[in-house]
Amino acid sequence: MIKSNPFTPQSGWEPKVFGGRSKQIEAFSRVMREAVAGRPNHMVVLGEWGIGKTSLLKQFKKITQGKGYLASFCSIGRFTERDTVQDGISLISEEMVDETEWEQAFKNALRELGRDYFEALYRRASGREETILLTLAKAKTNFTIAETAKTVGAKHKDFPLKNVKHFLYRLENKGLIKRTETRSFTILDPMFREYVLLKQLGWGQD
Ligand SMILES: Nc1ncnc2c1ncn2[C@@H]1O[C@H](COP(=O)(O)OP(=O)(O)OP(=O)(O)O)[C@@H](O)[C@H]1O
Ligand SMILES: [Mg+2]
Repeated sequence: MIKSNPFTPQSGWEPKVFGGRSKQIEAFSRVMREAVAGRPNHMVVLGEWGIGKTSLLKQFKKITQGKGYLASFCSIGRFTERDTVQDGISLISEEMVDETEWEQAFKNALRELGRDYFEALYRRASGREETILLTLAKAKTNFTIAETAKTVGAKHKDFPLKNVKHFLYRLENKGLIKRTETRSFTILDPMFREYVLLKQLGWGQD
């Protein structure tokens, strides 16, 4: 027979008063201290239906934020098979904050989660391709080859149209930019754009 359960199972409604669980909280605090010391680890919460798993995880999030760290509560159901790494980063960072703090949190999340990934992507660009990449990152709209050449050419000598075309194709092959249906080019995605722009401000050099 199923044991009776003092709680009403209903996905993760916050209890008015969160009671007990001191052992679990102590275990979590230990894992968190280790993580802060540079030794991150996983932790799994298992329990019967309605026993308080979700509430406990939310409590962990509160405790973490209370210590001034970023915490994310992100349901696996929000991910799909087609999500890219950037989608994952975006979802996880979205969960870290309310909207007013979005920009700062976004940057923090990029720093924590995405830096290695975007850095590796960024490094695929050679010096002159980097100039083109930055031009596309700054562009408010998609750019055709001619528009790119015009914008780059205004600032930099030595970027004839055929070179620009060549660099754009190479950046596309390297997966840093993409071509639209109207045969113009744009940077891979908004997160990578943000990264490239921040990079130009000398950000992430620490
Ligand atoms: N430590 C606690 N103190 C007080 N109330 C709690 C506590 N933990 C859970 N509850 C209450 O119990 C109910 C069920 O909790 P919760 O949704 O967290 O369980 P669950 O294990 O995630 O459930 P499910 O298996 O359905 O996902 C909720 O109404 C919640 O508010
Ligand atoms: Mg639950």
